[in-house]
Amino acid sequence: MASILEIEQLNVSYNGIPALQNVGLQAEKGEILGIVGESGSGKSTLLKAVIGLLGDNGRAESGRVVFEGTDLLRVPAKALRGIRGARLGMIFQNPGTSFNPIRKIGDQFLEAMRSHGKTDRTAAIQQILEMLARLGLRDGERILYSYPFELSGGMNQRVAIALAMILRPQLLLADEPTSALDVTVQAQCVKEMMDLRDSLGTTILLVTHNMGVVSYMADKVAVMYAGRIVEYGAKADVLNCPRHPYTRALIEAIPQIGGGAPKGIQGQPSAAKGTPDGCDFSSRCRFSDNICAFERPVMNDCGQGHAVFCHKCFSEVLHEGVRVNGY
Ligand SMILES: Nc1ncnc2c1ncn2[C@@H]1O[C@H](COP(=O)(O)OP(=O)(O)OP(=O)(O)O)[C@@H](O)[C@H]1O
Ligand SMILES: [Mg+2]
Repeated sequence: MASILEIEQLNVSYNGIPALQNVGLQAEKGEILGIVGESGSGKSTLLKAVIGLLGDNGRAESGRVVFEGTDLLRVPAKALRGIRGARLGMIFQNPGTSFNPIRKIGDQFLEAMRSHGKTDRTAAIQQILEMLARLGLRDGERILYSYPFELSGGMNQRVAIALAMILRPQLLLADEPTSALDVTVQAQCVKEMMDLRDSLGTTILLVTHNMGVVSYMADKVAVMYAGRIVEYGAKADVLNCPRHPYTRALIEAIPQIGGGAPKGIQGQPSAAKGTPDGCDFSSRCRFSDNICAFERPVMNDCGQGHAVFCHKCFSEVLHEGVRVNGY
């Protein structure tokens, strides 16, 4: 069966400066793919490229983004607008992006639903109130009559999740959907996204800095560094047996309750370079040697869909003492 989403060799730039380099991934129906990586690694850019909202200075230079058999990079703008919302939903990293600041929330929900054929106002309002309640927002009536600035950050984030989920998309792009939420509300939102997947077979691309959420929700994990996917595979392989030094460092940087100070990753994140030489992580990597500094790695297949962009991914030294984490 064909994957619901296949991204191949995707290159994106802003003002001609590369932001994504040769990104490739597949997601099947009902699968949750967690995308992790430091700030600036290209996670939001990847989701925006899929939905075609890179902005005026962003450009998909090459590659394919095939959703349900259609290459979204090559469909006319009008057709793409029809696919967005109904079949392809997005929760933006900044919930403010989802709403017009000078229109009431309820009007914005109703307009989105009307434009996708849901014209019965009473039924639509009922549906919105139910969705808001499931996300822990019990005073839905007040919210519908509010402007976005009249809600707290966490309320706006949940309202944005509701707006993306109400049209029951086949593919949901969720960019840090729970970052502004306290842990109990976060748990409710995670549960609702999982329910959407379970009931409709929705595929979810989930960007988050919270490894606990990734570990709970995701089936597969993609680790991004400097605009590339550097490790990709089943969640258990990537989180329990990471083969890229960057993935290991990310996992070791997670603060543990009762543990000592978390270990940071030395050096600064690298921007996407687009140059042919060396590994972008080599200057920060404690395993790097000459080959890493001068020769670009390839994506190595470690078996069972586990792929790693590193010269050292088969090295014994790297795997000494790999800790099996408790997620
Ligand atoms: N509209 C834009 N114009 C120019 N450069 C941009 C734009 N959006 C993103 N970038 C650049 O692209 C790179 C990737 O940014 P992106 O927002 O995708 O990172 P991210 O992984 O989502 O980071 P974070 O975890 O902080 O959200 C960064 O170097 C960023 O400065
Ligand atoms: Mg982002």
